[in-house]
Parts: sequence; C-alpha cells; structure tokens
Amino acid sequence: MTEVKVPSDAMPAMPVPRHVAIIMDGNGRWAAARGLPRVEGHRRGVEAVRRTVRAASDIGIQIVTIFSFSAENWARPASEIGELMGLLRRFIRNDLADLHKSNVRVRIIGEREGLDPEIGRLLNDAEELTRDNDGLTLVVAFNYGARQEIVRAARRLAEQVAAGALSPSDIDTDRLARFLDAPDLPDPDLIIRTSGEQRLSNFLLWQSAYSELVFVPTYWPDFDRGTLEAAIREYQQRERRFGGLVAKTGS
Ligand code: IPE
Ligand code: IPE
Ligand code: MG
Repeated sequence: MTEVKVPSDAMPAMPVPRHVAIIMDGNGRWAAARGLPRVEGHRRGVEAVRRTVRAASDIGIQIVTIFSFSAENWARPASEIGELMGLLRRFIRNDLADLHKSNVRVRIIGEREGLDPEIGRLLNDAEELTRDNDGLTLVVAFNYGARQEIVRAARRLAEQVAAGALSPSDIDTDRLARFLDAPDLPDPDLIIRTSGEQRLSNFLLWQSAYSELVFVPTYWPDFDRGTLEAAIREYQQRERRFGGLVAKTGS
C-alpha cells in the first residue's frame, strides 16, 4: 500500500477522534440491490476496509476498530460463513505485508478459542508481525461479542477471588476493564454504523459508554474517505459532556 499523504482540505485539524470504531454493515443489501450474490458484497467490503484504513491514517486517526464477524454471525448459512472465513484468510495473506509496510499495528479482539486453527494462526501472525509498528492501530473484532467479552473478564475476576488474591469489594470499573480484550486502548470516541441500521448488535458495549454514535445510510461497500470525513464532521458538532456540565474534548 504505497501512499502519498495528502492533507485533506475538508478536515479541520482538531478535534479528530483518536479512536473510531466501525460497524461495517450492509454488504448483503449492497449486493442484493445489484442482483449479485451476497459474497460479492463481502468482497467489495474488503476494498472498503483498505480505503478506510488509508483514509483514517491520512486524517490522523490513531486507532480504527472494525467489526468484521460477530459471535452471533455463526447463525448464518454455512456457505456464507465459509465465504467470510475465506475472505478473512485472503485479506491477511494479501494485505498483511502492505499493512506492515505502512507501519500499521494489527490487533485482534474476540474469542480465539474454538476457532479453526489455521485462522487462529493467521490472526496471531498478523499481531506478531506488526507488534512494534507505531502508526495506525487497526483492531479487528473477529468472533467478537461484547457480552461475551465482559463475561470473560468477570470470569477472570471470579478466578482471582476464588484463589483469595482479590476481595469482591476490590472489584471496580477499572479492575474489570483490565480484563477486557484490549485493555490498553482508549475507548472509541466515535462509533460509525453503516447501512442505516441504528443498533450496536453486541459491539463494544462496555467501551461505548460515552462514544458518539453516527449512523450513515451508506452500505459498507460504498464507504469511502468522503463518508468517513462526513461522519467525523458530525462528530465534531457534538458536545461531549461525560456527565458533567461542561463540554470536554474526548481526544
Ligand atoms: C456486514 O454486512 C458484514 C457482516 C456482518 C459479516 P451484512 O452481511 O450484515 O449485510 P446485510 O446487513 O445483510 O445487508
Ligand atoms: C453486525 O452486523 C456484525 C458485523 C458488522 C460484523 P449484523 O448484520 O450481524 O447485525 P444485525 O444482525 O443486523 O443486528
Ligand atoms: Mg447486516
């Protein structure tokens, strides 16, 4: 991914959200609207991921989290699941070297246990290869469900209590958050969902407590730099109060 950094005239320098999370929705409807099989929408969705990572990096966003496969998506037909897994494999095989060259650090959140071992290896490889990169962090939420993530954290706390290492009264929000899948990353400032649906679908329920939510009608395969910038402009109009009376900048 060789790219020339072009400063965007449309983007005011501040406040650009530090962490943008995206629910990439609408691949199937994009394809259906064109009389194409759903998988074609997923394929074009991968191109939108490439565009978005480049644009986010140019704009100065530090962290992008993308919801690529939910814990509930296993309810889809086996053929579609197979196609989605194939696309993930191909994405890592084809794009990892470019991402690495672009100094992108890849992180994965979601349940790794029980995954196809080859997929598990690819996810580990992506994290290992890019571990020391200090450009954009790309967090891929794969086999991810927020309730499941919180349950995993609660289980770890329960284990510590059972072992006598922790007292129940020591449990607070900070301590629980330390056992989430990427505890070192700041919460998303902005969550974008494409395709017009207005729900979180079990995405980052803990971390979204004070995120700004922007819903755009665009189907994910049509998402581009312009759509991203429009969502950021909407974010920039919002007043973030975090429960207080005075607006604060989240990033
Ligand atoms: C998002 O597009 C991709 C995944 C959830 C894996 P969808 O496949 O949900 O597309 P729609 O919502 O059916 O249009
Ligand atoms: C959410 O989209 C999951 C991903 C984008 C990976 P879905 O299409 O699965 O969500 P629902 O079922 O419409 O809520
Ligand atoms: Mg959907």
